[in-house]
Amino acid sequence: MVKIAIMGHGTVGSGVVEVLTTHADSITSRAKQEIDIKYILDLREFPDSPLADRFTKSFDDILNDPEILVVVEVMGGLHPAYDYVKSCLEAGKSVVTSNKELVAAKGAELLKIAQEKNLNFLFEASVGGGIPIIRPMSQCLAANDVVEVAGILNGTTNFILTKMINEDMSFEDALALAQKLGYAERNPAADVEGHDACRKICILASLAYGKHVYPDQVHTEGITNISLADVKYADAWGGVVKLIGEVSKTPEGKLHSIVCPMFIPRDSQLANVDDVFNGIMVRGDATGDVVFYGKGAGKLPTASAVVADVIDCVKHIQARKYLFWEDGSPDYVADYLDAEVAMYVRLKGDDPDGLCRLAEEAFGEISRLFRKDADPGEAAFLTPVLPEREIRAKLETLAQHGAQILNTIRLSDF
Ligand code: HSE
Repeated sequence: MVKIAIMGHGTVGSGVVEVLTTHADSITSRAKQEIDIKYILDLREFPDSPLADRFTKSFDDILNDPEILVVVEVMGGLHPAYDYVKSCLEAGKSVVTSNKELVAAKGAELLKIAQEKNLNFLFEASVGGGIPIIRPMSQCLAANDVVEVAGILNGTTNFILTKMINEDMSFEDALALAQKLGYAERNPAADVEGHDACRKICILASLAYGKHVYPDQVHTEGITNISLADVKYADAWGGVVKLIGEVSKTPEGKLHSIVCPMFIPRDSQLANVDDVFNGIMVRGDATGDVVFYGKGAGKLPTASAVVADVIDCVKHIQARKYLFWEDGSPDYVADYLDAEVAMYVRLKGDDPDGLCRLAEEAFGEISRLFRKDADPGEAAFLTPVLPEREIRAKLETLAQHGAQILNTIRLSDF
C-alpha cells in the first residue's frame, strides 16, 4: 500500500478524492498496489466528509511523515503551493500537481530538484484538464521536432466566445454562466485576460523545445475587448474568433509565442472546438498535425488527469519518469512585433470609405469586410501579411488622419 497526501480540497481536490474512492479497485489493479489517502490538507472544516478523520490544517504533518511517498498539490496559486511542493520534493516525496501557475513559473526549478532526488514531478492536469497532452508530447511525439503548437487552452473564454458566436449572448452574461458552472478561475481576470492560457502555452513551449518559457516573456491579450461586431466580421471573413495560445521556432532559433484572440478559418480543426472544450494542435515534422481535444476544465476531467499521474508515480516509485526542461533565458522569446502576420482592423471615423482608401495606399492592398447593421462610420478590413511592427505604424498614420482604431485581431494560418 502507498500512502499519499492531497493538499487542497476545492473543486479539483474533492474530485481527486472522489475518483480515488469510486474507482479504488481498478486503480489498485493499475497501480499494482492500493493507494491510501492518509492526509487531506485544507484550512476549512469538512465534518460531513467520509474522510473527515484524514483532514489536517498542518503542512508539517505531511512533510514530516516518512510514510507519505506521493503528494498531490491541488491548492492552486503560487504561494504557499511553491514552498510546499519544493519542500516535499526536497524531503524525498514525489509530487503531482494540476497547478499551471506553479509549473509555468517554477517548472524548471522543480523538475531539477526532482531529477536530483530521483523523484517524479508530474503535471498532466496543468494543461487541457482531462486531455492527455503532457505525456503524449513528452513520450509519444518525442521523435518529432515540434514545428508549432497552437491551441484553445482556456475553457472559460472558449465557452464565452461560443455563447457570443452562437447565441448573440453578451460577454457579461456568458462569463456569469461560466462561473456558475464552475469553469472560471476564482479570479476570472486570469481567464478573460489570457493569463491562464499564457501559463499553459508556457508549459507546452517549455516541454516542446526543452527550455523554460516564462509567462512574462509571452505577449498576452485576452478577450475583454472582443465585441459582437468582431464576431460578425469574423463570420463575414469565413471563420470564428478564438483565444489562441501559440508557440513556434523562428529561423533565428528563438521562439515566437503569443496568446491572443485570432480569426480562425471555419475549416480549421480548432474552429469547431466549442463551449468549455479545449483543442491543441501539435505540428510535428514527422507526424504532421496531431490534434488533442476534450474537456479542458471541470472537476472530474481534471481529477482524472491528476489521478492518472498518481498511478504513474506509484508504479514508478523507484524509477523516475523522463520529464525535464532546462531553465530559460531572457532573450529566448522573440519580440512579437517582429512576427509576420495579417490583421483584421475595425475602425471608426467621419469618412470610413476615405479612411479605407488611405489604408489601401498605406498597405498596398486591403480586403474590406462588411456586416449587416454596421454602426455609422464603421469600417473593417484585412491587411496583407507584414511584420506586426509595420502594421502598427501604418495604423498610427491612419489614426493621425482621424481613424479611431476600435480593434485589431490577428488572422491564423492554421
Ligand atoms: N479556468 C480554467 C479554464 C480552468 O477555464 O480553462 C482549467 O485550467
